[in-house]
Amino acid sequence: MTYTKINENIIEQLKKIIDAQDVLTDYDNLEKYGQDETEDFIFKPEVVVKPKTVSQISEIMKLANTHKIPVTARGAGTGLSGGALPIHGGIIISMERFNNILQIDERNLQATVEPGVINYVFQEEVKKVGLFYPPDPASWGSCSLGGNVAHSSGGPKAVKYGTTRDYVLNIEMVLPNGDIIWTGANTLKYSTGYNLTHLMVGSEGTLGIITKIVFKLIPLPKHDLLMLVPFTSAEKACEAVGATFRAGITPSAMEFMERDAIDWSIKYAGEVNFEIKPEWQALLLIEVDGNNMDVLFNDCETISNIMTEHGCDEILMADSTEQKASLWKIRRKVGEAVKSNSVYKEEDTVVPRAELPVLLKGVKEIGSKYGFKSVCYGHAGDGNLHVNIIKGDLSDEVWETELPKGIVEIFELCKKLGGTISGEHGIGLVQKEYLSIVFPEYQLELMRNIKKLFDPNMILNPGKMVF
Ligand code: LAC
Ligand code: ZN
Repeated sequence: MTYTKINENIIEQLKKIIDAQDVLTDYDNLEKYGQDETEDFIFKPEVVVKPKTVSQISEIMKLANTHKIPVTARGAGTGLSGGALPIHGGIIISMERFNNILQIDERNLQATVEPGVINYVFQEEVKKVGLFYPPDPASWGSCSLGGNVAHSSGGPKAVKYGTTRDYVLNIEMVLPNGDIIWTGANTLKYSTGYNLTHLMVGSEGTLGIITKIVFKLIPLPKHDLLMLVPFTSAEKACEAVGATFRAGITPSAMEFMERDAIDWSIKYAGEVNFEIKPEWQALLLIEVDGNNMDVLFNDCETISNIMTEHGCDEILMADSTEQKASLWKIRRKVGEAVKSNSVYKEEDTVVPRAELPVLLKGVKEIGSKYGFKSVCYGHAGDGNLHVNIIKGDLSDEVWETELPKGIVEIFELCKKLGGTISGEHGIGLVQKEYLSIVFPEYQLELMRNIKKLFDPNMILNPGKMVF
């Protein structure tokens, strides 16, 4: 596909659609908007625009579609698979001005938001009226809801409450030709033709530009309890995860951290007020929530028994809001800590929950075979293990030639175990080459044809996912 380069004429036309000061072409901004949180990639766009209205986006798309200019929509740039990187240059549409919560509908337990609203800001607003929006990616303080929808982001709470997908009722979007549609209805049920809402969720900005989202909300649980469970064997910790659910308990978070993940995060995020014993190889961070404290204490007792049966060391029950916050901070900062420590690659493996111990063991064996170290952590209750492969002292040659073979083996193992290559970070740019491990060619072709139907000129986020 050949694309048209941006010229003065295009810039002038963009400046007629939106305020001239919101059309940026200076070096610093092109560099800033050419990055997200994926490794150290930079792909500079040719221009960055910051529209404020749906009709402006529609006009920008008509212009881009007529001239065959690539367009990449961008939320807050916290993605981990390169979804927002404009690899063919062109226009970045930054959604940062779409940052209004338009309505919190307490009668129907719904909210309508613009996609640039920050996840945490939204959570706090709905909490004020006793409501709950559960999806809580580690980057919730900075990631945007539009980006969350584009990847169907998860987070710790997904284990009990589901991922972003489970909360999206309806989406307003601009198609590549400039048409504006609502994908569905603001209803809890939907049996009215193909479900375009769920096709859009997880489509990584390749089918249209999200301009409004209607989310389902639920009542805010009144209480939660948090426990930290240390293990001298990481595999045993993973085994205890499946056993918990089989005993009839669904925690509101069940997170796993390997020893290095904990040490690096503590070093990065600050001190903790409890001792991490040298022999601990892994920790589970387990939360239960609900409205009845007696039930929660009972659940914690059942969980403690299961953990003990799996050989855990002494369990710490968080005894204050501060201690809970400090434990969660350590967990949420692991990703940033790893990034600050070494060149790395983050894989987002996911398998049926009970297969987690086999996956962890396999990842370590594959690491030994190819000579790389991995730091593993993640959403154990979902069978979702983030495997951070560390460059450390590995030569560039090994990193570039041997590592991809190791990654292929890890993903083949996921597939064999009934899992897949991304649970919540998406395919974007960095996992694209591995997609054929989980899908046959004719299935990839089906996806390409869906893309072409929406975007015959292939201008929206080209080069991502399968395209
Ligand atoms: C986390 C992000 C990286 O779980 O998904 O920390
Ligand atoms: Zn995660």
